[in-house]
Amino acid sequence: MHRIAVIGSGYVGLVTGACLAELGNSVTCVDVDEARIARLNSGRMPIYEPGLSELVERNRAAGRLDFSADVAAGLRQREIIFIAVGTPTAEDGTLDVNAVRAAAAAIGRALDGPKIVVNKSTVPVETAGLVSAIIEETKAADFAVTVASNPEFLREGSAVADFMKPDRIIIGTSDARAEAALRELYKPLDARIIVVDERTAELIKLAANAFLALKLSYINEIANICDQIGADVESIVTGIGSDARIGESYLRAGLGFGGSCIPKDVRALCELAAAHGISARVLGAAIEVNREQVGRALARISDALHGLRDRHIALLGLAFKPDTDDVRESQAVALAGALLAAGARVRVHDPAAMERARALLGDRVEYAASWQDAVRSADAAVVATDWNEYKQLDFAVMRERMRGRVVVDARNIYEPHQIAAEGFTYVGIGRGRREPLDTKDASLVKSETPRASP
Ligand code: NAI
Repeated sequence: MHRIAVIGSGYVGLVTGACLAELGNSVTCVDVDEARIARLNSGRMPIYEPGLSELVERNRAAGRLDFSADVAAGLRQREIIFIAVGTPTAEDGTLDVNAVRAAAAAIGRALDGPKIVVNKSTVPVETAGLVSAIIEETKAADFAVTVASNPEFLREGSAVADFMKPDRIIIGTSDARAEAALRELYKPLDARIIVVDERTAELIKLAANAFLALKLSYINEIANICDQIGADVESIVTGIGSDARIGESYLRAGLGFGGSCIPKDVRALCELAAAHGISARVLGAAIEVNREQVGRALARISDALHGLRDRHIALLGLAFKPDTDDVRESQAVALAGALLAAGARVRVHDPAAMERARALLGDRVEYAASWQDAVRSADAAVVATDWNEYKQLDFAVMRERMRGRVVVDARNIYEPHQIAAEGFTYVGIGRGRREPLDTKDASLVKSETPRASP
């Protein structure tokens, strides 16, 4: 049993704290957000993450997990301190490490014994050294402190399972004591442990997320080609993904990547490269393709509806992916904004993210209590996030309530013929043409061509 503190009780900190408590450790999660801690202390979750609330409740009841807004008190007598605070994009595209700096200073001021500080936030290379230096400057007493890097790879929506069954655990440290402590801490997970130096660990995280961005933009580029030539990107994914060298994972054509991690991490890696005189051209292209993807979807919708002004659109899904309420850099929210800018009227629904989306979209859209409510009088229904509940839409209800007959499957969760059989025009991403292509008819080729992003 280890005595652990986790600084930052968001998606990563809360999951880390609850899972480490589940493994039998004593964990205090601290956060500067008093409302968040009050909520946790009253048994309510500040975020939506499947399985997390049960895990938190069980470990709180067992006395292994508690929460405190008093950061200094929470750090007292803890041997291992995880930093899991946010690192958003700074104005210059790098990662803003101000919260990491503040966490390091809090550790220094509260120092009451030897500590192993473990950075789980996604950070620029050399942040372990920065955290060490800040603790050294601020420390209240002279105890040995070692700072390790332990990047996190969990995915929102399956965060608990990802933490408990990781593909690998990266431990970045050159300190034998820290390595031994972390190996022991993670032993119950029976996962592959890769020990590297701190800088390499920090770079592994950025390189991993950037690679996922490449895969996503790559398949979106292929989808755009499919739209032009009348091929089906989903069959292409099966065709190329069954090659063991390629694999199907993260080859998902759609609206593009969003969320709080991949976009900012790929930007940060570009900036890191630039700071060292390297132009990261492949990464830049992935960002560029992604930036255009919402505009391309908008053009497809506009084509299908012969314009967007005053069209009624039911937008199903706002979270950046299913099973989360996170709307940070959500492409679905971006699509809502683009539809509004094009003059459409938008009614939205999401099973979990309505509250958070309201902070971004305000009263510019209407909020529906259910998808059935959202599609009322709509000219088109757009599936923007692939929540399970949108995978089985009741087309009899759609026919009865909608004014138009267009289904835009922006996450490719339906088969085109299935939607056509229900009497709707299907618009997917890279699913070939809606009509069989008559190659002799040049005007058809032109009218079916998705426009470039606005
Ligand atoms: P979040 O925004 O959900 O949570 C961060 C928490 O830290 C907030 O509750 C905030 O109030 C708190 N905080 C900020 N400054 C603090 C301080 N000085 N002392 C105590 N608490 C403080 O962020 P999230 O999503 O959990 O991300 C945390 C880090 O993990 C980021 O670097 C992110 O890039 C990385 N990451 C995130 C993943 C995700 O799926 N969300 C996955 C893997 C890594």
